[in-house]
Amino acid sequence: MSITNENAIAQPVGTTLERYIMRKQAEFAFATGELSQLLRDIALAGKIVNREVNRAGLTSIIGAMGQQNVQGEAQQKLDVEANIRFIRALTNGGEACAVLSEEEDDIIHTGNCQGKYVVAIDPLDGSSNIDVNISIGTIFSIYRRVTPVGLEATREDFLQGGRKQVAAGYILYGSSTMLVYTTGHGVVGFTYENSLGEFFLSHPSIRIPASGTTFSCNEGNWFDYAQYVRDFLTQCKQQRMSGRYVGSLVADYHRNLFTGGIYLYPPTAKNPQGKLRLLYEGYPLAFVIEQAGGRAETGTGAVLDIEPTEFHQRAPLYVGSATLVQDLVALAPVEATPA
Ligand code: AHG
Ligand code: MN
Ligand code: MN
Repeated sequence: MSITNENAIAQPVGTTLERYIMRKQAEFAFATGELSQLLRDIALAGKIVNREVNRAGLTSIIGAMGQQNVQGEAQQKLDVEANIRFIRALTNGGEACAVLSEEEDDIIHTGNCQGKYVVAIDPLDGSSNIDVNISIGTIFSIYRRVTPVGLEATREDFLQGGRKQVAAGYILYGSSTMLVYTTGHGVVGFTYENSLGEFFLSHPSIRIPASGTTFSCNEGNWFDYAQYVRDFLTQCKQQRMSGRYVGSLVADYHRNLFTGGIYLYPPTAKNPQGKLRLLYEGYPLAFVIEQAGGRAETGTGAVLDIEPTEFHQRAPLYVGSATLVQDLVALAPVEATPA
């Protein structure tokens, strides 16, 4: 009996991340395999973190470390574990000369001075949800270094601006674990098959619906929001849109990417620039959403057009379906938009 698709006995398992990367090698900027290796390194660390997330309740990984990160936020044990796993994977992979992490004050030099890339990363997004078994994620952003190969990376390598990213994406540790990324040629999604320990191509080309019926924000901050943001949210409610807010940016973002919708983290009294960090939350998710046909704005311009000045700077984030983001931005006071 010939082995053909007619024989349902052995259905093909699909395209692994590895095989996909090799096939798409030619599309990658500076196609010499280094960026491919970086994506493999990130996928490996994601598999390890996924294992920790899946058994968090059974190990000592639950709970807080009893210390704060550079953001002044209480570090959860899994924040620290994920941080170590990604930095170690990127160091051992050899292609990243430095890493900027939400959990580290300054640049982490990997020792790979011949590496042509630097990576900014939020190792564990949604930390407040770790202990209550709600979806969490990892967000990454990749730049080609601008400093000479052979030397250590500098601030300049990380402060190039969002439109200089060569790749960006996220891992969602959800009801299934997915890796979603772009290299500037659209957005692709892989789903993790635990039994085989592989990411398989599940979404060859992800596009966000032009509009949607979901808005995602922490309405507990309502009285801090600018009037135009409140006006927009009031319009959403008058149109009987659905409020959906997980408290993990990656989870809310991913749902809206597939169903259409808008996620908002406006400036608040506690975070006058917004809570989310530009280099490893705003920029990478803005790169992905624009590649998927959506928009990411700050209220005074596109997220990707913000000039970065600090590693851990924060910026407002309004991200999702182009029509919904446009409706919000159209309400922003004119003086708030750049000349
Ligand atoms: P992180 O866990 O990396 O600090 O990110 C948390 C972010 C984001 O994931 C989430 O949408 C937002 O913080 C929730 O903030 P609030 O609890 O203030 O709504
Ligand atoms: Mn985060
Ligand atoms: Mn985080």
